[in-house]
Amino acid sequence: MTHDQATRSNEAGSELHMHVVADYAEVSRMAADVITRVVQENPEAAITLPTGETPRGMYQELVRRIQDGVLDFSRVQFFCLDEYWGKGVDDETSLTAWLDDVFLRPAGLDSDHVHFVPSLALDPVEGAAAYEQEIERHGGLRLAVVGLGPNGHIGFNEPGSPVDSRTRVLELTKQSRNQNAAYYDGESSIPDKAMTMGIATILDADLIVLIVSGASKADILKATLEGPITADVPGSFLRTVGERLIAIVDQEAASKIS
Ligand code: PGA
Repeated sequence: MTHDQATRSNEAGSELHMHVVADYAEVSRMAADVITRVVQENPEAAITLPTGETPRGMYQELVRRIQDGVLDFSRVQFFCLDEYWGKGVDDETSLTAWLDDVFLRPAGLDSDHVHFVPSLALDPVEGAAAYEQEIERHGGLRLAVVGLGPNGHIGFNEPGSPVDSRTRVLELTKQSRNQNAAYYDGESSIPDKAMTMGIATILDADLIVLIVSGASKADILKATLEGPITADVPGSFLRTVGERLIAIVDQEAASKIS
């Protein structure tokens, strides 16, 4: 495995763990390794894992390990990270349906252990509060894996999301709607709102893994890891958790980091 491990001081003086690996396959494998370790050490852990193109390879790794019997996910409490507002798992254009196809079903997860974002709740405020309580009831998130949006979002926490935000409904930016247009007929059919775990929900996790791949993410990764810590780049808040953050990025994504 070709990777560099380094630690980088953040503003608070503690250090995040930074792994720059050769390529996407290495990002996927290393992220799966971290998840495997957490689940082996905490078989009933509450965890959240992301949707998107970045985690596809990670899910393939996890499914292979689960199907080979080397990883047991049967007692994990899986919490979905985000969803379009008004869409649920039965809607084939939802993030949860994507997750179901790519991971939940192939991995054979028990539906009793899968917690959907309450994106169909009659009352979004009550639904969001109940989701936060459900996480707490399962001991809080042991692990949160997140990707990085081209605009610096984590989950669907768009620019402007405060550091103390919790699960809520918010407006999607045009950029995020464009990013996901490939899954739909075009941007106009993409919902304009989403429900997402908040920044604080993610930062409360015992361990946070950021996965980033590809040259198209080089500028936003630099802003995230080296720019100001600001709501303009929500991913930059990850640096406030010090050594609870592991960043796993490939060389292309890291190409602009000093
Ligand atoms: P991507 O999305 O993995 O499809 O690039 C990342 C994100 O928006 O969180």
